[in-house]
Amino acid sequence: MIHSLAFANKDDLSGRYINTGRQGFLLAMDVSVYSLTLLCKHAEPLMKGRNGSIITLTYYGSEKVIPNYNVMGVAKAALEASVRYLAADMGQNGIRINAISAGVIKTLASSGISGMRTMLEHCEGKSPLKKNVTTDEVGKTALYLCSNLASGVTGEIIHVDAGYNIVGM
Ligand SMILES: NC(=O)c1ccc[n+]([C@@H]2O[C@H](COP(=O)([O-])OP(=O)(O)OC[C@H]3O[C@@H](n4cnc5c(N)ncnc54)[C@H](O)[C@@H]3O)[C@@H](O)[C@H]2O)c1
Repeated sequence: MIHSLAFANKDDLSGRYINTGRQGFLLAMDVSVYSLTLLCKHAEPLMKGRNGSIITLTYYGSEKVIPNYNVMGVAKAALEASVRYLAADMGQNGIRINAISAGVIKTLASSGISGMRTMLEHCEGKSPLKKNVTTDEVGKTALYLCSNLASGVTGEIIHVDAGYNIVGM
């Protein structure tokens, strides 16, 4: 099962995080985080004992402050913690769950974040591989995680970001 969705109000994806309202906060957490827990609850009986693999998509803004990512960074941190708790819950049924922390890619959802073009240029310049990742590269890691090659991997956050997250300065 692939969980590849997130949402926050556009107003909450620019300016100061401190201004996030309660409704916007709850909306981002509900759509972007709780949805995974609920989907897992319903998928577990279907996947039980069948080598199930679940993947969600996260972003580096969960670990470090990224300008304008704001409430979504907080939601992604909660999403990554959920992956670990869900892995612990579902492991006994042979179900694995992991997150791919993807580098910045221009999509409908990411266009809602202010300063996307700057982020793309910055990552291209600063990442070890000197490029932005493609959806194909994220897809290849998803394929690995779904396959038997990853039979011993669960609860992990795997970065597919041209190495951007390892750079300190
Ligand atoms: N694009 C990036 O740079 C990037 C980087 C890291 C992680 N991600 C993550 O990848 C995932 C997919 O995003 P994307 O960038 O491919 O954008 P996208 O626009 O292709 O996908 C977002 C999806 O979320 C769905 N969605 C939004 N609100 C929903 C709701 N209330 N209920 C059900 N579905 C809803 C949309 O229908 C859409 O299919 C998201 O979790 C996003 O945070 C994206």
